[in-house]
Amino acid sequence: MSQPRKLHIKSYGCQMNVYDAQRMVDTLAGEGFVETASADDADLVILNTCHIREKASEKVYSELGRLRVAKDEAARDGRVMNIVVAGCVAQAEGHEIIRRAPVVDVVVGPQSYHHLPQLLAEAKANGRALETEFPVEDKFGFLAPPSPQAIRARGISSFVTVQEGCDKFCTFCVVPYTRGAEVSRPVAKIVDDVKRLADNGVREITLIGQNVNAYHGEGPDGRPWPLGSLLRHLAKIPGIVRLRYSTSHPRDVDDTLIEAHRDLKELMPFVHLPVQSGSDRVLAAMNRKHTADDYRRVIDRFRDARQDIAFSSDFIVGFPAEREEDFCATLALVRQIGYAGAYSFKYSPRPGTPAADMRETVSAEEMDERLVRLQELIDSQQSAFNRAAIGLTVDVLFERPARNPGQIVGRTAYLQPAHVFASPDIIGEVLPVTIESLERYSLLGTLATPLHMRPASSAHSPMTPLQTTVGA
Ligand code: SAH
Ligand code: SF4
Ligand code: F3S
Repeated sequence: MSQPRKLHIKSYGCQMNVYDAQRMVDTLAGEGFVETASADDADLVILNTCHIREKASEKVYSELGRLRVAKDEAARDGRVMNIVVAGCVAQAEGHEIIRRAPVVDVVVGPQSYHHLPQLLAEAKANGRALETEFPVEDKFGFLAPPSPQAIRARGISSFVTVQEGCDKFCTFCVVPYTRGAEVSRPVAKIVDDVKRLADNGVREITLIGQNVNAYHGEGPDGRPWPLGSLLRHLAKIPGIVRLRYSTSHPRDVDDTLIEAHRDLKELMPFVHLPVQSGSDRVLAAMNRKHTADDYRRVIDRFRDARQDIAFSSDFIVGFPAEREEDFCATLALVRQIGYAGAYSFKYSPRPGTPAADMRETVSAEEMDERLVRLQELIDSQQSAFNRAAIGLTVDVLFERPARNPGQIVGRTAYLQPAHVFASPDIIGEVLPVTIESLERYSLLGTLATPLHMRPASSAHSPMTPLQTTVGA
């Protein structure tokens, strides 16, 4: 047998990129590639890029600068190192990448990953290959599924793409251009994926999509199914104890989703629901097509269905023409909702988006100042939320040995890392943990039920109800 070739892949950006990277690794495993942790000894390096903000995009070129040195060194040793740029920068910039960085051999956009083996062969023959676009029908189902060994190596929590692309066209955002029009995968395909994962030890599934609650994939009855129905169906798969989904849009929260939160103990009471701004004037300029009050009402519907639900969000500060009063409306909304955490970003103009042409820009100083004020507020809410867990007994799904010897780390329903001293046997189980302290963002506790008193089959036993109530 020939020597396995080494593949190094580095992902930037969102969860979808992490998932896509795994699919590329699985597909290239069929071509004899094994993953390696360092770029220097790799035969193939893939940069899976993100275009969302200028900073993310520019990282690619500095990384390519470093790779040029590694590639030259490999050549001096008589080795060939191929360099692929994948992801949203590949989709957005195409040829421009090769012009700016001749070190690149292949450029491939998110719509065409199943062509990767072919593109590599083409690059070998012609020195270079470029493919950034393919018909939408080709998007799903062409990539190799993970092997049982790959699933086991990746642990007990897994992403599954159910929807890709976006038709919303928020005026600041590149995603509708880089990921294309919104497409949903059929229910049967998703069920197959989840069963394969569950059969190989996965206990928690996060359904991902750029607009995941716009999901409308074909159901077994031939009709489009909403996300709530999909979640209800997946909750029945043996071995799956936790379900999550990300990222949702406030406009697509339908009753099936709310009812799923009311009824499914497997569906975690933690929802990432970006609002971007609390000002109706800014929301309109962003083309979000909802008001701050619409968003408040959506939050109320979730809370009415499940009182222990918590939320996170994304915010943009310094969108063109955002005034102090608009920003104060954002702060007011944050104070009113009370988040378990949130991401906030300075507005970054993206080429080709409508907002990039808006004249009334906010100065860098103002943006910095607003970002600090918003982050202080969010941080204080997040710490209060985390501190509220101290003294409670909460369910933790254990994931892996922690860095500290003897400790195992898992996550609460709210994705807070929680550490206990215990045997690695508990990995993959949901167990009640009494939380004793908080260290930065990590909870420390003890197993509420001593190990010798647990029933032998607790890996599949239903979760004990959460006793956490949302503070903050
Ligand atoms: N699909 C998701 C999020 C996509 S991008 C949604 O609709 O909410 C993730 C986050 O990046 C966005 O929620 C937004 O807050 C931020 N973002 C997107 N474009 C941006 C830009 N041009 N400048 C700054 N932040 C941006
Ligand atoms: Fe971007 Fe808006 Fe679509 Fe989210 S909903 S991906 S922010 S265009
Ligand atoms: Fe970035 Fe593309 Fe995801 S732009 S955030 S990698 S969809």
